[in-house]
Amino acid sequence: MSALGFGCWAIGGEWQSSEGQPLGWGKVDDEESVRAVRRALDLGVTFFDTADVYGTGHSERVLGRALGKRRDDVVLATKWGNVFDEETRTLLGTDDTPAHARRALTASLDRLGTDRIDLYQLHISDADPGRAAELRDTCEEFVREGLIRAYAWSTDDPARAAVFAEGEHCAAVQHALNVMQDAPDLLALCEESDLASINRSPLAMGLLAGKRQGPQDTGDIRSKPPAWLPGFGNGATADPEWLRRIDALKDILTSEGRTLAQGALAWIWARSPRTVPIPGFRSVTQAEQNAGAMEKGPLTADQLTEVDRILGR
Ligand SMILES: NC(=O)c1ccc[n+]([C@@H]2O[C@H](COP(=O)([O-])OP(=O)(O)OC[C@H]3O[C@@H](n4cnc5c(N)ncnc54)[C@H](OP(=O)(O)O)[C@@H]3O)[C@@H](O)[C@H]2O)c1
Repeated sequence: MSALGFGCWAIGGEWQSSEGQPLGWGKVDDEESVRAVRRALDLGVTFFDTADVYGTGHSERVLGRALGKRRDDVVLATKWGNVFDEETRTLLGTDDTPAHARRALTASLDRLGTDRIDLYQLHISDADPGRAAELRDTCEEFVREGLIRAYAWSTDDPARAAVFAEGEHCAAVQHALNVMQDAPDLLALCEESDLASINRSPLAMGLLAGKRQGPQDTGDIRSKPPAWLPGFGNGATADPEWLRRIDALKDILTSEGRTLAQGALAWIWARSPRTVPIPGFRSVTQAEQNAGAMEKGPLTADQLTEVDRILGR
C-alpha cells in the first residue's frame, strides 16, 4: 500500500445535517473527481478512504466508478455508523447496532461495486466503548465471511481506539494528525498495538495547503465551521493565530522544493513511520501535487525538532 492515501470526503459533494449545517465541501464536478482518482492511480497511489455518509453515498459511487477495473490494485477503506437519506442528502443520526453495520456494509459494497472492503471503519468517533466491543466482534464475523479484510475505528480517543485494537483483525486507527495538531498518545498506541495510523485532515482542511480564508460556497462546511473544526475562525476569515503559525513554519515545510501541502505531508511521515496521511482533493492539479509528495519523502529529524521549537511544543 502507498505511504499516501487519498481522502474522498470532498468528492462526495454537498450534503447537510437535519438542522441545515453544511457537511460537504460544496459543489464538485464528478468528472473532474474521476479524472483526479485515475491520475492518482497512475502516480502510484494505492489507498483510498471514503465513508458511506460522504455526500450520502455519492463519494462511494464516484470512487467505485473511477476505480472500475483497477479496483483490485488498491486498498479500499470506507466507514459506517451514520444514518442518512440519499434523496435529500441529509444526515439523520447514528446507529451503533450490529444489524445496522451489516445493512451498511451491504449498501457500501453495492455503491462501490465490489465484493469486499479492505478496511472497514467505525465512523461514530464517540461511540460507547461497550457497544464498540460488540461491533468489533461483528467485524470479526465480517472477516470470517470474507466481506471485509480488516477494520479500524475512526476516533481521536486513545482509550476507545484501544478497545478496537484488541480485535485480531483490527489494523489501524484513523485520527486527526497534522503539523498543527499532534497526537502523541494515539501514535504511541499504534506503536504498542502494531497498528497503522491513518491521518485525517493532514492539510488542516486546506489551511496547510495555502488557504487563507473561508470558502465562498455556502455549501462548504468550512463556511460555517462546527465546534470540532479548528482553524477556520468564523468561516469568513481563518483564525489569525493559525495563519501566523503556518507562516512561521513556511520555510521548513517548503524546503527541498516542496509546496506547502507537500511539506505538511512530509512532517507527518517524519513524525512516525506508521503514518498514512489521506489528504482530500477536488481536482487533477491537487491530486498531482499531493501524490508528488511521495517522491520527496519525510522531513529530517532536525527539521522535526525545529518545528516543535517554533511552535513551542
Ligand atoms: N471522522 C472521520 O473519519 C474523518 C473526518 C475528516 C476527514 N476524514 C478523511 O480524511 C480526508 C482528508 O481530511 P480532510 O478532508 O479533513 O482535509 P485535508 O486533507 O486536511 O484538506 C483537504 C482539502 O485541502 C485542499 N487541498 C488538498 N490538496 C491541495 C493542494 N495540493 N493544493 C491546495 N489545496 C489543496 C482541498 O480543498 P479546496 O479545494 O477547497 O482548497 C481539499 O479538499 C477526508 O477526505 C476523509 O477521507 C475522516
